[in-house]
Amino acid sequence: MNLRLKLPLSILGVFLLSLSACNKNSQNQAGESTTAQTADSSATASPEASIPAKADFQSTVAGKQTDLYVLKNKNQVQAAITNYGGRLVSLLVPDKSGKLTDVIVGFDQIKPFTEGGDTYFGALIGRYGNRIAKGKFSLDGKTYTLATNDGPNHLHGGKVGYSRVIWDAKQNNDSTLVLTYVSKDGEEGYPGTLTAKVTYRLSSANELRIDYEATTDKKTVLNLTNHAYFNLNGAGSGTILDHQLQINADRFTPVDSTLIPTGKLEALAGTPLDFKNATAIGARINDAHQQLKFGKGYDHNYVLATQKSATLKPAATVLGDKSGIYMEVSTQEPGLQFYSGNFLAGKNQIKGGKQDEYRSAFCLETQHFPDSPNQPNFPSTVLNPGQTYKTASVYKFSVKQ
Ligand code: GAL
Repeated sequence: MNLRLKLPLSILGVFLLSLSACNKNSQNQAGESTTAQTADSSATASPEASIPAKADFQSTVAGKQTDLYVLKNKNQVQAAITNYGGRLVSLLVPDKSGKLTDVIVGFDQIKPFTEGGDTYFGALIGRYGNRIAKGKFSLDGKTYTLATNDGPNHLHGGKVGYSRVIWDAKQNNDSTLVLTYVSKDGEEGYPGTLTAKVTYRLSSANELRIDYEATTDKKTVLNLTNHAYFNLNGAGSGTILDHQLQINADRFTPVDSTLIPTGKLEALAGTPLDFKNATAIGARINDAHQQLKFGKGYDHNYVLATQKSATLKPAATVLGDKSGIYMEVSTQEPGLQFYSGNFLAGKNQIKGGKQDEYRSAFCLETQHFPDSPNQPNFPSTVLNPGQTYKTASVYKFSVKQ
């Protein structure tokens, strides 16, 4: 049941009186309006967020049913996921005043996801997160050719990838959603029938955990991640440039002008890419540094470790400067792609009738390093038959006053 339905009648009364001040942009939000916020704050404050309507995600795509699945915990935290691309659509967490805030930037209905204008909003990415140079790699002397869908390179699994397929969904309770997808041998040019299982789990400690598992029937390469776009002040609330970011990395993998790693691991200290100490994302983003020019801002893989960890390790923290929402990212993966929303251009209408303005969201994609299949010095992304690919990442939410 929606939190607002539980509000005391007295607050509801205030709400009815102030209906005229209600935000008109709430039409996509489950058909219910902005009770709590309207009741207890000024007319300029943003409304309390809600999960999009399930009906707006129920469709048939490529002969399969799409839907919206909602996880919730005892703290009113809610995560909404669609099986279209396994995408995280909404994540409602309380801000420092207790107001539920949607920290995920993206669409609030299925149509814009399926009809283009998409920038991988919230998607599961596979088979290979980030770029593979020139769309080619070799295994045991055989060269495989993939789509070049990002200039000269292959990006995020190709033209369809995992972000535009319909996953089979199974939700048994309020805390867990299991998604599975079987990718055929040769799909998007990758060898092997790959069976992938991704589990989204919401804990009572306000952690959204994503477990990834996969097996193959032929030797292949694999690098799964999630491409959530975060704005911890709330989706559509402006840029993320004043968010404070900290990343537990001393090195990164510098790139060429097409964003393919050079193969080196370079020190971050003394560069505007160093986030060892919490720093505002925007403090140095326009510095005259070649890597920032190549990335058009931050779009770099941070080296958390030189191999996959057996346990979850703290990777990064981010603080929403206005909301006080604090996110802690931990992962077993050796890399973290920090992308500062440089390709967002205000072209897409996102939740609440807002636009996806330039740098109004950031991504922290836990991953193996880009182009690993062509980089012998990077941790391997090869998966063999008989092995099980298994990795997890956690996004934990709290507030700082
Ligand atoms: C990121 C990638 C960026 C951009 C973005 C999607 O993972 O590093 O270069 O492609 O995805 O727009």
